[in-house]
Amino acid sequence: MTDLNTLNSNPGVNPKDPHRPVYHFLPEANWLNDPNGLIHWQGMYHVFYQYNPNGPYHGTLHWGHAVSKDLLKWQHLPVALAPTPNSPDQDGCFSGCAVDNNGVATLIYTGVRGEDQLPCVATSTDDMLVTWQKYPGNPVIPNTPQDLDLVAYRDHSVWREDNTWYQLIGAGIQQVGGTALLYRSPDLLNWEYLHPILVGDRTSTHPLPTTGDMWECPALFPLDDSHVLIISVWSNHNLIYSAYFTGDFTGWRFTPVHQAVLDNGGSFYAPQTLLDDQGRRLMWGWLQEQRSDAAQRASGWSGVLTMPRRLSILPDGRLGQAPVPELQKLRGRHQQYKGLEIPAGYELVLPEVQGDCLEILLKLAPGAASQAGLWVRCSPDGTERTLIAYDREAGGLIIDREKSSLDREAVHDRRITPFQPADQEDLTLHIFLDRSVIEVFLNNELAMASRIYPTRPDSLGLCLAAVGSQARINSMDVWTIQAPE
Ligand code: FRU
Repeated sequence: MTDLNTLNSNPGVNPKDPHRPVYHFLPEANWLNDPNGLIHWQGMYHVFYQYNPNGPYHGTLHWGHAVSKDLLKWQHLPVALAPTPNSPDQDGCFSGCAVDNNGVATLIYTGVRGEDQLPCVATSTDDMLVTWQKYPGNPVIPNTPQDLDLVAYRDHSVWREDNTWYQLIGAGIQQVGGTALLYRSPDLLNWEYLHPILVGDRTSTHPLPTTGDMWECPALFPLDDSHVLIISVWSNHNLIYSAYFTGDFTGWRFTPVHQAVLDNGGSFYAPQTLLDDQGRRLMWGWLQEQRSDAAQRASGWSGVLTMPRRLSILPDGRLGQAPVPELQKLRGRHQQYKGLEIPAGYELVLPEVQGDCLEILLKLAPGAASQAGLWVRCSPDGTERTLIAYDREAGGLIIDREKSSLDREAVHDRRITPFQPADQEDLTLHIFLDRSVIEVFLNNELAMASRIYPTRPDSLGLCLAAVGSQARINSMDVWTIQAPE
């Protein structure tokens, strides 16, 4: 985890930057994008990630590396993969995954050479996975499938069934849409192409907004009694959003039953998961910055990961996301409110508690209110503030950033995650504030992360609000969060 002392001594990062998260994972400086090679190895959680050691911008992609025993405190380790001159990854080590090949940790990643983006393999034999040897026969798949006219081809998800390895590679078929191509191998080195497991339709806008021209970072895994396919939609050179499908994987083809955007907070992309030794399927996503390139360069860092989210299949077959209980260890000073009635049109300021690193557990009965929730990061005069609420008219959970920042270049919008509560249903909003990161969980099912960049040092307040009709706060717990030691 970021240690503020290290941070202050790192000349690359502006120590006065008020937006740098304290307990979400990020490198000591420079650029991060996708989480890569997530693996629970010999009792340690390993996070690798797309990393540019040369600055806080996307370029010369390496694999950064950090390790944690408890999912809270991260120890930064040396770069795991760097481009090798005159080799298949000379222009970048793009995203990929890690597997346990009979006790040998093995990475499958995309090597970039000029226009070529092809699968490469590296192995490690040290316990902490610090040193990696690239396979001399890279790339292990020298060509894309001959019968497909592809938009792009990269990123890997690998698993073993019986004695055979299977791999998905992200791709897009020209004029058709995104897809994930299935391969199999006896040894991770020799691969046979099978077929696409699912193909999107780039012209369709329902039930997902668009499934784009190409699917980046596909991942497939069994969960409870279902299968989950995660994709990140790339369209016309833009990173659009990440989605999941839950459904049936038989006959080596995937049939979706449910699908939805994974996190509609406007920043989340390219998630990856691991299975830990408690059998938990944990997911991390990349939270992109939403401030100007100039501001990112001035701060010396860009990009942060979500907290690990525990995935489950909900009773109706959709995918659930919940925070892990480990986070409770970060709780500091506690304040509790019970049985507060918020009259319609009223805003109740909570002067006892303030902050930009808080955990808030809000049990809310919206009743007939058209909107009920909590303003966070409020300046005393209300010129800066961000609303997290259930909004009946919008039809879901909202994060309203219209007034999050007086900085005109910051995003000013309202993010919505569709959600239909049952009649009289109470809602649980679990909110994590970490400076520029807001991560919200609704009923341990839905998640939404957004970035905010308030300009005022006093934009720290909390304020409950109801619109249209009164709402009841059954309880609200607020904890300050302490950086992991
Ligand atoms: C997703 C992505 C991947 C690629 C990597 C490059 O954000 O574009 O498709 O491997 O990032 O950094």
